[in-house]
Amino acid sequence: MSSDRPSPEAAALDPERLPRHVAIIMDGNGRWAKQRLLNRVKGHEKGADSVRAAVKACREVGITYLTLYAFSTENWQRPKMEVDALMALLKKFLQTETEDLLTNNIRLHAIGEIDRLPDDVRQALDHVLTQTRNNDGFHLILALSYGARSEILHAARGIAAEVAAGRLSPDAIDEAQFSEKLFTCDIPDPDLLIRTSGELRLSNFLLWQLAYAEFYFTDTLWPDFGKEEFFRILADYQGRERRYGRVDPEQAS
Ligand code: FPP
Repeated sequence: MSSDRPSPEAAALDPERLPRHVAIIMDGNGRWAKQRLLNRVKGHEKGADSVRAAVKACREVGITYLTLYAFSTENWQRPKMEVDALMALLKKFLQTETEDLLTNNIRLHAIGEIDRLPDDVRQALDHVLTQTRNNDGFHLILALSYGARSEILHAARGIAAEVAAGRLSPDAIDEAQFSEKLFTCDIPDPDLLIRTSGELRLSNFLLWQLAYAEFYFTDTLWPDFGKEEFFRILADYQGRERRYGRVDPEQAS
């Protein structure tokens, strides 16, 4: 994940108009493998290389937050062999990348129902979270056993408990207070969401946090997703006008 000299595509981007936070639904590993008559797990393995490439691309242009949907709450329902392989891949990734994360001032975050992960994976994760907790050059957020509805329910229960204890009046609940109860409390909302593999769905990902994000859907399967396409998507993002529900002042009359 070390940083190289910026490529021409990266240099062509306007550094003032980059998304601060990009979120990605990494989809299509299984289809990538099927097209090659390989086991689905091979697709996930190749997908892990795309994860490294995406981190590197973000750092090359100066994006500071990247959230990756690595495992959803629904993914527990996949065949045990595939779940086990994904967990083993995650553990290996955590172990092999720690040094790079430390060298490059990258902080790892995890969002989701982390206590559902197998003990060995949770221990590997806790280790990296602790080791990188003071890093602030780049933030890599892994969504693991993550589901947005469950996250929102968890936040609602936290707010309800404060109301029941008399510490909070229902009238005083605002968006900022609610956001503080989410797994993402210390992370800014994503500016750009990318989903690979041609599916046009959010699949229970960051439903609260994506309220004002720009969306980009590409047919590319995640294992084929590389930095050239990432930079093209960033150029497309820079051509968009983000109004947050307001009217462009020049069009107001
Ligand atoms: C979706 O493809 C992908 C996943 C469920 C897992 C994502 C995992 C990785 C990219 C591997 C490694 C990640 C880390 C952080 C090391 P799919 O299996 O649903 O593909 P399909 O829709 O083509 O079947």
